[in-house]
Amino acid sequence: MKRACVIGWPIEHSRSPLIHGYWLRKYGIDGSYTKVAVPPAEVAGFLRTLAERDLAGCNVTVPHKEAAYALAEERDESARAVHAANTLWLEDGKLCAANTDTYGYMTYLDHVVPDWKAHDGPACILGAGGAARAIVHGFLQAGVDEIRVFNRTRERAEQIAEDFGPRVKVFDWDVRSDGAREACVLVNTTAVGLKGEGSLDIDFAGFNEDCVVSDIVYVPLETELMASAEAAGLRTVDGLGMLLHQAVPGFAKWFGVRPQVTDELRALVVADIEGKIC
Ligand code: ATR
Repeated sequence: MKRACVIGWPIEHSRSPLIHGYWLRKYGIDGSYTKVAVPPAEVAGFLRTLAERDLAGCNVTVPHKEAAYALAEERDESARAVHAANTLWLEDGKLCAANTDTYGYMTYLDHVVPDWKAHDGPACILGAGGAARAIVHGFLQAGVDEIRVFNRTRERAEQIAEDFGPRVKVFDWDVRSDGAREACVLVNTTAVGLKGEGSLDIDFAGFNEDCVVSDIVYVPLETELMASAEAAGLRTVDGLGMLLHQAVPGFAKWFGVRPQVTDELRALVVADIEGKIC
C-alpha cells in the first residue's frame, strides 16, 4: 500500500485528504492520504524520516513551505523560482521538492478562460507572499510582458521584483484600482475577503473590459472581489480550482496515476466548504 499525507501546523482545516481520498477511491488504488499535525520544531525530523514512516511523500502547508524547500535535496524549477515547496517525494532515496501552486493557478486560469491574453495588458497581483511569488512565476512563464505587484508592505513587493527581474514592477497598495485598470488579469493573493472579512475596495470603473479577475481565496467560493468584478461585467475565476489542480502532480508522483479534476470532486469540496461556513 502506498502512503502519503499533508503536514502543517495547524492542519485540521486542510481539505487535501478529501481531494486525494476521492482520487484513491475513483482509481481503485490501494493507498492512503492522511493529515499530520507537525509543529515547526519537528519538521526537519519528519521530512528526513519519510522512508522510515513508509511514506512515498507528502504535501506541506503553512507554515512549513520554506523549511521544506530548505530541507529538500533536489528542487525542481517551480520550487527554485518560488523559494518554497508544497509537494515532496522520494526519488532514489533523495528528498525531492516542487511547488505546484504555479501549475494549479495557471492550469485553472487556462481552463476557465482559455482566451485570456498575456499580451493584452499587465498582469496585476495584490499581495507579495508565497502565493504571489508562485503566480508571478506563472505569468512570466506564460509570456506576460509586465507584472505589477501591489502590496501593503512595499518592501516585500520590491523583493519579488529583485528576485524575478525587470518585467516585475512595484506599485503602492493605495493605487491598486488606478494601477490595475489596463490589466489583462487581476489576482488577489492576500487573505483579504477570507470568510467574508475585509474588503479590497477595488473600483472596477474604467477597467479593460477583457480583464479577468481572480481570487485565490475560496472560502467563500464567490468573494466580494469576484462579486464586484462580475457586477462590472468582468469575467472571474475562483480560488477553488487552484486548490484542486495543485494537488494533481503530487498524486501522480506518489500513486502513479495522473488524476482528473472532475465536477464531482469539485462538488464534494464545495459541499464541505459550505457545510463548514454555514
Ligand atoms: P501566502 O504565503 O499565503 O501568500 P503570506 O506570505 O502570509 O501568505 O502573505 C500574505 C499576503 O497578504 C501579504 O502580501 C500581506 O501583505 P503584507 O506583506 O503587507 O503583510 C497580505 N495581507 C494580509 N492581510 C492584509 C490586509 N488586511 N490588507 C492588505 N494586505 C494584506
